[in-house]
Parts: sequence; structure tokens; C-alpha cells
Amino acid sequence: MAGNITLTMIKPDAVKAGHIGAILQQIGEAGFQIVAMKYTQLTRAQAEKFYAVHRQRPFFDELVAFMSSGPIVAAILKKDNAVEDFRKLIGATDPSKAELGTIRAKYGTDVGQNAIHGSDSDENARIEADFFFSQLERFE
Ligand code: RTP
Ligand code: MG
Repeated sequence: MAGNITLTMIKPDAVKAGHIGAILQQIGEAGFQIVAMKYTQLTRAQAEKFYAVHRQRPFFDELVAFMSSGPIVAAILKKDNAVEDFRKLIGATDPSKAELGTIRAKYGTDVGQNAIHGSDSDENARIEADFFFSQLERFE
């Protein structure tokens, strides 16, 4: 059965550009409920841990540098079929290929600086939610 939570980060590019409010509004209007949220900045080591699956990829260093370059907003979102529905809402990894109206199409710059993260599976959603939030910080 599909899980009902996903983990998102509004990435440093979108935070710097002042898009937090607009992005949270679009997320809410799409039917997601925020059940945990924080404004924080990842250290290099934390970004390396979060994206450890990509360690062997050529873009890893660039990704880690970018994700630790400024504050982000991390949140756990709740909705039926959360992971798949949220990936649809954010659009393709490369904003120039993302469907019109998606968060990455509207606010992303390029394949690296693409405004927002969404978990890619129910298992990773649980792992990523636990990465950012203790049980006391979650209101599921
Ligand atoms: P995310 O994990 O951030 O939600 O993105 P995603 O699933 O759509 O894409 P993924 O393959 O997991 O890649 C993670 C992030 O790495 C950066 N990236 N850069 N320069 C490049 O070719 C490249 N490819 C990926 C992006 O920031 C991507 O979101
Ligand atoms: Mg991913």
C-alpha cells in the first residue's frame, strides 16, 4: 500500500530567491498537510549523509556544496499517495523538462539548482523524515 508521508526541502536557491511562501501555498493547495517543518542550514557532512546514494555520481560535490550553501526549509508532508503525488507536483529533475505549472518549472534554475526536493520512495521518505525530525517534532 502506498505510504502517506513524503519529505521535502525547499532548496537554497528558492529560499534565497524569496519563494518559500509561494511554494508552501502551492503545496497546501495541492492537498498536502504539513506535519513537521523547520528552517535550517545543512552542514557539508549532513548534506553528504542525506545524499549518500549519489556519492559515486559526477555531480556529488556540486550537489553537496549547493545544498549546504544556505538555509533550507525541510518539512514532512502528509497526503494519500504522498511520494508519487508530490513528485508530480514538483516535476522533472531538470526544470527545463518539468511539466508547465510544476514547482521546478516555476522556480528551478537548472538541473542542479532545482528549487525543491521530494522523496523517491516510501522507504526513503521514512529515512529522510527521521534524518530531520525527532518524534517530538512530528504531528502526524
Ligand atoms: P531530489 O532528490 O533533490 O528530489 O531530486 P531528484 O530525485 O529529482 O533527482 P536525483 O537523481 O535524486 O538527484 C538529486 C539532486 O542532484 C542534483 N543533480 N545534479 N548536475 C546534474 O546533472 C545533476 N543531476 C542531479 C539535483 O539537485 C537533483 O535534484
Ligand atoms: Mg532524488
